[in-house]
Amino acid sequence: MTKEKERKMFVGVVWNCAAELKLVLTAVLFLFSLITILQFMPNRFTFSPSNLGTTCISTPSIHASLSVSPINTTVPPPPPPPPPRSSPEKDEVLENGVIKRAFNPFGSAAYNFILMSAYRGGLNTFAVMGLASKPLHVYGKPSYMCEWVPNDDSQEKASVLGTQILPDWGYGRVYTVLVVNCTFTVPVGATDDNIHGGKLLVHAITNGTGGDTKFNTTDTFIALTETERDFSNFISTFSRSPKYDFLYCGSSLYGNLSPQRVREWLAFHVRLFGEKSHFVMHDAGGIHEGVMAVLKPWMDKGYVTLHDIREQERFDGYYHNQFLIVNDCLHRYRFQAKWMFFFDVDEFIFVPKKSTIKSVVDSLKDYTQFTIEQMPMSNNLCLEEDRGKSYRKWGFEKLVYQDVKRGIRRDRKYAVQPRNVIATGVHMSQNTVGKTTHKTEGRIKYFHYHGTIAERREPCRQLVNATTITVDRNPYEVDTTMRDIAGTVKRFELKMIGPTLQRTRQ
Ligand SMILES: *[C@@H]1O[C@H](CO)[C@@H](O)[C@H](O)[C@H]1NC(C)=O
Ligand SMILES: *[C@@H]1O[C@H](CO)[C@@H](O)[C@H](O)[C@H]1NC(C)=O
Ligand SMILES: *[C@@H]1O[C@H](CO)[C@@H](O)[C@H](O)[C@H]1NC(C)=O
Ligand SMILES: *[C@@H]1O[C@H](CO)[C@@H](O)[C@H](O)[C@H]1NC(C)=O
Ligand SMILES: *[C@@H]1O[C@H](CO)[C@@H](O)[C@H](O)[C@H]1NC(C)=O
Repeated sequence: MTKEKERKMFVGVVWNCAAELKLVLTAVLFLFSLITILQFMPNRFTFSPSNLGTTCISTPSIHASLSVSPINTTVPPPPPPPPPRSSPEKDEVLENGVIKRAFNPFGSAAYNFILMSAYRGGLNTFAVMGLASKPLHVYGKPSYMCEWVPNDDSQEKASVLGTQILPDWGYGRVYTVLVVNCTFTVPVGATDDNIHGGKLLVHAITNGTGGDTKFNTTDTFIALTETERDFSNFISTFSRSPKYDFLYCGSSLYGNLSPQRVREWLAFHVRLFGEKSHFVMHDAGGIHEGVMAVLKPWMDKGYVTLHDIREQERFDGYYHNQFLIVNDCLHRYRFQAKWMFFFDVDEFIFVPKKSTIKSVVDSLKDYTQFTIEQMPMSNNLCLEEDRGKSYRKWGFEKLVYQDVKRGIRRDRKYAVQPRNVIATGVHMSQNTVGKTTHKTEGRIKYFHYHGTIAERREPCRQLVNATTITVDRNPYEVDTTMRDIAGTVKRFELKMIGPTLQRTRQ
């Protein structure tokens, strides 16, 4: 390209810019009059002239949200405190003629720490669960100072550097899950003759790393407030043997879940785990009216606790912040269960007929953790003999084709004795005191019906009259283990909660 042509093109671009700019300015003028009018209407309206003045823009972007909610229903969170900063820096010509350029930061794009919960784990130890800025952890070196402030002024304060555990395998996005373990050198909250409780403060220190190396920003928050009574309650739970034999910690539930599939899962597992079991479910948006109707009878009978965790969706972590949720569940219920199970609602735990879940965990009691092997099941192959009546059958009753492809590493799920677990994950815990075993074949396994839980229609797509079949080069074999116990599970549900759920929809 010649110099002349280049110049012409450049002029052309500028001219185009000018024309566009005119258009934009007219649009802006128009919009401002529009805003004046809209101010008097009860709608949210925002106008953002994206990068006006820096580049040529073809269309100014307008976000007019015509939601009917009045403008004052949502209260924005208080902005994080601004970093300590004097007046804006200006460019400056130094004595040697060099232009020293200035950089002026405004606002902050991620919180330093978002607290979910904190629980006492012993006389001198606490676990604090939350989300932390991921770049601060990946590129910086923050630290967390734990401070105990007794309610009784005559008692000594205590301080210790918290241990940081990042259980989410680096999957986080803007935020990463952080468990801060605060273990003081002495017991706190009580002395031999005086129970007083206190406050656990956490100082989240950037230590001059992460966002701005110039500032050593510290954010201090109260992680836990403990009354005398809270302390006494803790001691009694801590010293008694656990209330439950089995506690299920469910991960974040979201999407358009099938009430019928959830119904089947609950009936199956309440029967399996028995009277001394409890199920903790977490609603990240998946518990709509139909699913709630299915949980309700079991909640009323004391088998299910539901936590609404929808607010966490504001903070961009991994998969509805499931790693945060399971750690909260672990520490919240740590002293209330002998064993905790971690798996999903499209997975069904199975122990062979000759055993019970109780005899299986008893045989593994020397281990803090054991993992469970997966039996992947087809989510659309059914038996020809079910033609015309499959819609009346339960999911695990009709989906009988097992994927038997070899040499594939499949996810495992796990169970732990929670007193010996310090932080946990989705497929296993990597922070345990004591041994882990994966050798559980033949003793316990789980059937996985992937993709059936958020599907609101009949799963049977292909009816097959054969014990083996290959679909898409994947070999399947009939396995009726689960089908065979469907009748027992249905009768169990009827006995426990009556016929209330008989008309549940897919
Ligand atoms: C919202 O505004 C209306 C009318 O101005 C007022 O009556 C109402 O109390 C406000 N609600 C809140 C939550 O501030
Ligand atoms: C904190 O870590 C210590 C040492 O690993 C452990 O003994 C203690 O149980 C942990 N505390 C909590 C609350 O998990
Ligand atoms: C940052 O502040 C904390 C607490 O005030 C202090 O312990 C730490 O040494 C400071 N770090 C730096 C790099 O100044
Ligand atoms: C804080 O930063 C200083 C100096 O950069 C470093 O020596 C120290 O180890 C850091 N402290 C913590 C707790 O990370
Ligand atoms: C399955 O196939 C066998 C033999 O081919 C046949 O006798 C039987 O009736 C078939 N069953 C169904 C349900 O179609």
